[in-house]
Amino acid sequence: MTDPAGFVDLHAHLFVGLDDGPRRIEDALALCRQMVETGTTLVAATCHQRGHFASVHRTEITEKFGELKIRLEAEDIPLRIVPNAEWMLDSATIENLPHLLPDLVTMGDAGRYALVEFPRPFPSFAALVPEMLSPHGLKPILAHVERYDIVAHNPNRVEELIQRGYVIQVNAESITNTYFPATIETCRRLIQRGLVHVIASDSHSVDRRPTRMKEAQAIVSHWTSSDTAQLLMTENPLAIIEGRDVRRAQSLGWLTRLRRR
Ligand SMILES: [Fe+2]
Repeated sequence: MTDPAGFVDLHAHLFVGLDDGPRRIEDALALCRQMVETGTTLVAATCHQRGHFASVHRTEITEKFGELKIRLEAEDIPLRIVPNAEWMLDSATIENLPHLLPDLVTMGDAGRYALVEFPRPFPSFAALVPEMLSPHGLKPILAHVERYDIVAHNPNRVEELIQRGYVIQVNAESITNTYFPATIETCRRLIQRGLVHVIASDSHSVDRRPTRMKEAQAIVSHWTSSDTAQLLMTENPLAIIEGRDVRRAQSLGWLTRLRRR
C-alpha cells in the first residue's frame, strides 16, 4: 500500500475551516509538502469532532477530504491520504454515543478503529469505552496519552487501558519538544516499557505545529531500536489503516532503560 520505509501518520489535522488545523488550503498543502520531504508517505487526514467541534459532521469531512485529495494530485504532492476524525469523548458525547456513531468518522472510514480523546483530568468512564465500542466492531486509539498526567505517570494504568482494549498513541512533538523535558521523559518511560503502539504527528500547520516524525524517529531509535521506531511509526499505523491488529513493542529491562536515556 505504501513505501515500507515511509512514515504512516495516523493523526494530522489537514482540513481547512473545519477545526483548529490549517487556516488556508496553501497552509494545508505546505504541511503536506513538509510531510513528504521528511519521509511521510501515508496520512490519516484528521478533523476534530464533538466537544468544541460538535458542529463538524461527516458530510463536511467527506467534502473537505475530496477537495484535499484533488489538490494533492493537482500539485503533484505524492502523499496518500485517508479520512479520519478525533472524537472528543466528553460526558455529553458518551451519553449519546450510539445515536452519534453514524455521524462520527472512523480511521479511514473503515469502521474498525476510532481515534479518541478525553477532557482532562482523565475521566473514570474512559476505562469503559472499549467495551462500549466493541459491539459496534470498533477499537479505540487513545490520542496523545502523555497529556493525561494521572495515566501517563502510572505505567500500570496504561497497561490496564491496553488490557481493556485501547491502542495507545503518543505525539511526535511530545518526544522532540525540549521546552517540555518532563513530557519527553514521560514518553521515554512509556515507549521503553512497550506501552505505546503508535507515534503520530498531531500536526496542525507548518508554523504552529509542524510534523516532527523524522526527529522523533531518531530519538525513539536511540531509546529503543530502529526496529521499534519502525513498528510505532510505520508498521502499526499501517496495520490500523488496513484494519489489522497492532503488535506490542518489547519492554526493555531497567538496565537498558537506564543506559538509553
Ligand atoms: Fe489532534
